[in-house]
Amino acid sequence: HEEFTKVKNIATIELGRYEIETWYFSPFPPEYNDCLKLFFCEFCLNFMKRKEQLQRHMKKCDLKHPPGDEIYRSGTLSMFEVDGKKNKVYGQNLCYLAKLFLDHKTLYYDVDLFLFYVLCECDDRGCHMVGYFSKEKHSEESYNLACILTLPPYQRKGYGKFLIAFSYELSKKEGKVGTPERPLSDLGLLSYRGYWTRVLLDILKKHKGNISIKELSDMTAIKAEDILTTLQSLELIQYRKGQHVICADPKVLDRHLKAAGRGGLEVDVCKLIWTPYK
Ligand code: COA
Ligand code: NA
Repeated sequence: HEEFTKVKNIATIELGRYEIETWYFSPFPPEYNDCLKLFFCEFCLNFMKRKEQLQRHMKKCDLKHPPGDEIYRSGTLSMFEVDGKKNKVYGQNLCYLAKLFLDHKTLYYDVDLFLFYVLCECDDRGCHMVGYFSKEKHSEESYNLACILTLPPYQRKGYGKFLIAFSYELSKKEGKVGTPERPLSDLGLLSYRGYWTRVLLDILKKHKGNISIKELSDMTAIKAEDILTTLQSLELIQYRKGQHVICADPKVLDRHLKAAGRGGLEVDVCKLIWTPYK
């Protein structure tokens, strides 16, 4: 891809109450080529070259949350579903923003084909974006997540695992298994490994290992291949007489669970009000 060779242009962005240093190149329109800093409206994600433009914009922008349906609310946390076709500019802005923190994806074309699930922390000033994931409306490859981002000021607080858990809750509602689009970044892979390990080993502990990969997949919406590679990488699986045998020694499971890190923020499924896209 062309953008691999390009030099990072925008060094910092302002978004809500944060000034954030960027990580990678993002292909903003050419008129922004000479900018070191961009000012984003934290609600509609329009971006501007100057602070005064943003200040003027904030007086007239009447969005206080992402432009879509609130499909989840628990305490101060909300998830909004934004249809890239109905909100094309928002979808494109989100992709420009996200690319600043993603090194390998070309994810800013055809926003029409995607839904964006935007996680917000809400207060009396509005719903402030924490992160998001995108999802193809129709995936041939059973992808349930295309791209995932937690904005740097919010990273390492469990939001990533919340977003991952949320993507699987949507798959469960669809009655499908899902898997994230590849390649995953190092941080993406770490987050998924942690999530898969925790979810699968919790079940293995409860069922004392007496459960097949197919059953694990049905319960979790995690694709069988991902279950297999997770358990294999933990050396919890043996192949005997043409069958996979899963180890369920509670001491071994507990040791792996400890190493898998914290559980992340929980998704309270009762609070998800959603029907699959048709
Ligand atoms: N160093 C080491 N491990 C890290 C890490 C870091 N900086 N950031 C995350 N991890 C690992 C940890 O195992 C962590 O679990 P723990 O905190 O319990 O140990 C786990 O990943 C997930 O942490 P969590 O707080 O739930 O995730 P997050 O909100 O920080 O978001 C990403 C994770 C991947 C979404 C975030 O790092 C990100 O947006 N990265 C840039 C975009 C990207 O690479 N996306 C994935 C490719 S599509
Ligand atoms: Na913000």
